[in-house]
Amino acid sequence: RGIPRFRMAVSSNTVSVAPILTKLQKECATPLPLLRLVADSMAADMRAGLAVDGGSDLKMILSYVDSLPTGVLRVQLGGKEERVEATEFEQVSIPQELMFGTSEELFDFIASGLAKFAQKEGGKFHLPHGRQREIGFTFSFPVKQTSIDSGILIKWTKGFAVSGTAGKDVVACLNEAMERQGLDMQVSALVNDTVGTLAGARYWDDDVMVAVILGTGTNACYVERMDAIPKLQGYKSSSGRTIINTEWGAFSKGLPLTEFDREMDAASINPGEQIFEKTISGMYLGEIVRRVLLKLAEVATLFGNSVPEKLSMPFLLRTPHLCAMQKDNSEDFQAAGSILYEVAGVESNLNARKIVVEVCDTIVKRGGRLAGAGIVGILQKMEDDSKGLIFGKRTVVAMDGGLYENYPQYRKYLQEAVTELLGLEISKNVVIEHTKDGSGIGAALLASANSKYDHNY
Ligand code: GLC
Repeated sequence: RGIPRFRMAVSSNTVSVAPILTKLQKECATPLPLLRLVADSMAADMRAGLAVDGGSDLKMILSYVDSLPTGVLRVQLGGKEERVEATEFEQVSIPQELMFGTSEELFDFIASGLAKFAQKEGGKFHLPHGRQREIGFTFSFPVKQTSIDSGILIKWTKGFAVSGTAGKDVVACLNEAMERQGLDMQVSALVNDTVGTLAGARYWDDDVMVAVILGTGTNACYVERMDAIPKLQGYKSSSGRTIINTEWGAFSKGLPLTEFDREMDAASINPGEQIFEKTISGMYLGEIVRRVLLKLAEVATLFGNSVPEKLSMPFLLRTPHLCAMQKDNSEDFQAAGSILYEVAGVESNLNARKIVVEVCDTIVKRGGRLAGAGIVGILQKMEDDSKGLIFGKRTVVAMDGGLYENYPQYRKYLQEAVTELLGLEISKNVVIEHTKDGSGIGAALLASANSKYDHNY
């Protein structure tokens, strides 16, 4: 009860912390040449994925979003000054057990959330008689789109293992669940969260060309020219452009990985998959650090002669814990001390806390810098195809996700890598802009643009 429990360390011949830490830092190092290689490989993988389906780790999924929100839509929604008249939102977390349940359970949960939301919304948003409410469905997983309002789940990511959804049309899954709930609505746009973010951000700013999510998972999408997509024979868009969802979480080339990454991957629900995501995104940073600390406790007595029992629990440390420890600049690393105690039941001395914070910094720095290299890879690909149209003018990367939003050090490392790679002059033209819940508004805009009803109401 409140008293830390320990299990005895097995090793009798302990080694010191320093060489293990030095090795970790060396293996996680992201010097400029390595970042460059990652950016180049990202660009090369994009091309290979655009050439043929399955051409690279990157799926380069067609979004069927060929035109982005325009002035016309702006006027309809609320005039130039007030582009979005009113939004209501409600956040509902998906209960842990539904991540491992059945497809019906998950979609029933979503549909029932929608039903409650619609009920509350009541008469606030007037709908002409006989008209079905149309919704934009943001679905943050890899989906092979078959049109703007249909698509098949390729596989789950981010720890989801719901049975019976992979290979199915997720719009049909939601429509069926809505029917079961007696909800008279239909999906008119199915979008990945990156695509929603790009559409939402573009509504305000014409220079947005790329959108990136750095949250639980990570991904990016961007505006591509149709003639740069060889795998797309026969499909034409009126604008000559379309948004490509890269699914860059699956990228894997040239990443500086450690034994801790490999072990975490092997123990995951999707071993061998989403390696970039597992190295840079919010779901995994805390877990990598926990694995490092466990090893330091076991072989180098980081927390004294015994190993704190709780430290063996997968996903005990979360990314917000790392962030809180790093944000604290008190001399005695107070935040680290109390988090280690509260979360892991560990009593730590000053030296141990210092090492813990250093481990956090090593893993977070690698993540932030690699994310920066990924962004540059996309921009570089676009620039090489268009000569000057990206780097020669202001270009905006719309960014969303809790990791980017809440972790200042991560943000700083990301920006530093971008600046190092592009050089000071060019990087001044590249603006990374945080757009909070852009994806919801973006999905709504796309649903409206794709409405089956007359647009001029
Ligand atoms: C995962 C999903 C991807 C999503 C990203 C960010 O990588 O596969 O579709 O965009 O997480 O939420």
